[in-house]
Amino acid sequence: MSEAPPPTVLVTGALGQIGTELVSALRDRYGNDSVIASDIREIDGHPIIKNGTFLTADVLDKEALEIIIDENNVDIIYHLAAILSATGEKNPELCERVNVGGLANVLELAREHGLRVFSPSSIAVFGPDCPNHAPQLTPLNPTTTYGETKVSGEVMARYYWEVHGVDVRGLRYPGLISWKAPAGGGTTDYAVEIFHHAVKTGKYSCFVGPDTRLPMMYMDDAIRATLELMDAPVDSISESRAGYNISGCSFSVTELVAEISKSIDQFECTYSPDIRQEYADSWPDSVDDSEARNDWGWNAEFELEQLVSEMLTNLTRTREVEE
Ligand code: NAD
Ligand code: SER
Repeated sequence: MSEAPPPTVLVTGALGQIGTELVSALRDRYGNDSVIASDIREIDGHPIIKNGTFLTADVLDKEALEIIIDENNVDIIYHLAAILSATGEKNPELCERVNVGGLANVLELAREHGLRVFSPSSIAVFGPDCPNHAPQLTPLNPTTTYGETKVSGEVMARYYWEVHGVDVRGLRYPGLISWKAPAGGGTTDYAVEIFHHAVKTGKYSCFVGPDTRLPMMYMDDAIRATLELMDAPVDSISESRAGYNISGCSFSVTELVAEISKSIDQFECTYSPDIRQEYADSWPDSVDDSEARNDWGWNAEFELEQLVSEMLTNLTRTREVEE
């Protein structure tokens, strides 16, 4: 018997923090020719553009997306195009338009063309009334526009599954920490920037205070969670399909600084909180991911110590190669 051909995958927002690593993982799995990366922007020399098919596409242009889907016989969309929290609160209208309007286009195309969809949610769905350790099921009352768009996204995704049978799945990603691509305008960006500054200058001025504690995750865990969720048999996926809580590790900035200081002597972090402190304060400290564990076997691998070691090792090596 011959093996089934790999599915054809379209990734929107592919040049962002997650797309840079998810596209590579999907190309390793399905082959370079089966994974089409797309984004509204182009970045000269970006590895995702160099190593496979790349198309510029605005997710608000439904006709352009439909042409890509038709011409390439797309089977699955990983829909990463979005405006993150810090950028979104500066321009809420754009945030609403891209995050809700873009997803509406993707879901409607998925219904019309029989596609599967991955659509990320976020810890930003929670608001100040959520317990510090966020349950899977709890009232979702975010105070940011970004958080509201993520709640709307979960509601829309569930609707398309329940009413139209579109197999759409999503994760409430924590703040993601990675070294291959910069963070894309979120509140949790401090936990990425701090490593770049530690390696380059040994100093960082942090835009949230020392006691700020948020759910975080190393990118390798996030990519694995994404692939595992999409691989899980449909019968194992519960009503949380549009926004499973997943936990990586949870730490305060003080704890992060202490761990970095073990490797970088004299590392100095000062604090100059701005508006992003408010957004961080409205989110929980950690999340309960027991449903993801029970339904599809989720288990994070990276704790703070290993995450810091990976970040510092890789950024130091990258810096040495660049110099
Ligand atoms: P990012 O900002 O790094 O990348 C988003 C990409 O979308 C960018 O490359 C941008 O050019 C593109 N884009 C913006 N508007 C577009 C449009 N109209 N059409 C097409 N492309 C457009 O974001 P990311 O960190 O890779 O996040 C991807 C998804 O994961 C988003 O839905 C985000 O809300 C979610 N998420 C991310 C994190 C995190 O910490 N990175 C945490 C929780 C949830
Ligand atoms: N990391 C994201 C942000 O801060 C959370 O969705 O916007």
